[in-house]
Amino acid sequence: MAQLLTIEDLRLLAKRRVPRMFYDYADSGAWTESTYRANEADFAAIKLRQRVAVDMTNRTLASTMIGEQVSMPVALAPTGIAGMQHADGEILAARAAARAGVPFTLSTMSVCSIEDVAQNTDKPFWFQLYVMRDRAFIERLIDRAKAAGCSALMLTLDLQILGQRHKDIRNGLSAPPKPTIANLINLVFKPRWCMGMLGTKRRSFGNIVGHATGVGDMTSLSAWTAEQFDPTLSWDDVKWIKDRWGGKLILKGILDAEDAELAAQSGADALIVSNHGGRQLDGAVSSIAALPGIVEQVGGRMEVWMDGGVRSGQDVLKAVALGARGVLIGRPFLYGLGAMGEEGVKLALDIIRKEMDITMALCGKRDIQDVDASILVKGKA
Ligand code: FNR
Repeated sequence: MAQLLTIEDLRLLAKRRVPRMFYDYADSGAWTESTYRANEADFAAIKLRQRVAVDMTNRTLASTMIGEQVSMPVALAPTGIAGMQHADGEILAARAAARAGVPFTLSTMSVCSIEDVAQNTDKPFWFQLYVMRDRAFIERLIDRAKAAGCSALMLTLDLQILGQRHKDIRNGLSAPPKPTIANLINLVFKPRWCMGMLGTKRRSFGNIVGHATGVGDMTSLSAWTAEQFDPTLSWDDVKWIKDRWGGKLILKGILDAEDAELAAQSGADALIVSNHGGRQLDGAVSSIAALPGIVEQVGGRMEVWMDGGVRSGQDVLKAVALGARGVLIGRPFLYGLGAMGEEGVKLALDIIRKEMDITMALCGKRDIQDVDASILVKGKA
């Protein structure tokens, strides 16, 4: 196997090892994928200032996100069905994150349940909540996250209605997946993945099946999810969820300064500038382009984080320079997971950490707390 030095190396290996429908599910965006592409391209357009003859000894990337110590300001983003990139994927990713000293976020739409992850890991994780029409189910999810010791709730606001990914439709990605001939033939070439799946019982939406009213198997699940995302979601619901949860709250999916203002007024602890990795509103601005305006609008009333298009430690550093207190990665860790399970996620995080460290030094900084817009070439931010 070629050396694995970059997130792109992990992506290519994941593509070989993960069945096509699940690889495509991760590596796709809505409609024309223009926002998906812009997330990465806009990072590449930002240029760094090289500094020399500056003391580069004793560097540190350590920081905090909503008061939690992190070894670098990076967290794993909530991603649906990560347990289909690799058997028991959410448990493995949570373990890798804990080993790397960064937070892990479990999606509502995960394969391993809240309880599965809590029982198989030592460190508290964050739970991401989608607002479903069935409010009794939401209440139970919040209570389960509390009982499992989750240290923060991440409320996703940009999925009241599901964006369309053409590849998912063409691949027959649904719950349960369609056993098309193409999908079945593809499985023959993924023996490692198949063996993993045969070795686990966790193969459906663990937070939902057996917990949502009337959802006992994959067929009833399919009907349930199709109509559960709540198009009536409002800021009143945010308040209701905040009160019901009572702990640290993170609002995910803010891309506009007006919404950021409302988020700041909501009393949440952090917001995440995000376009869902280009999976929702195709044609929306990239996250990194939206970040500076939102940081300005929020003016320190809450922490501002971002995600979308981060593929290297350099990207993390650029986001921090533009005011992000923390950065989430989605696909980079999914590629690691699909490529090599827990070790692949750990490797993705190690790659990003090393790139951050070297870049910070070459920009003349020793402490991530001192990284600001001065490391960027003016006019490119
Ligand atoms: C996501 N994302 C997401 N967000 C969320 O709040 N709940 C979820 O269940 C999911 N599911 C999901 C699945 C997959 C396959 C992807 C790629 C993304 C969005 C995710 O949290 C994050 O916003 C993006 O992944 C960030 O962009 P990058 O890092 O993937 O470019």
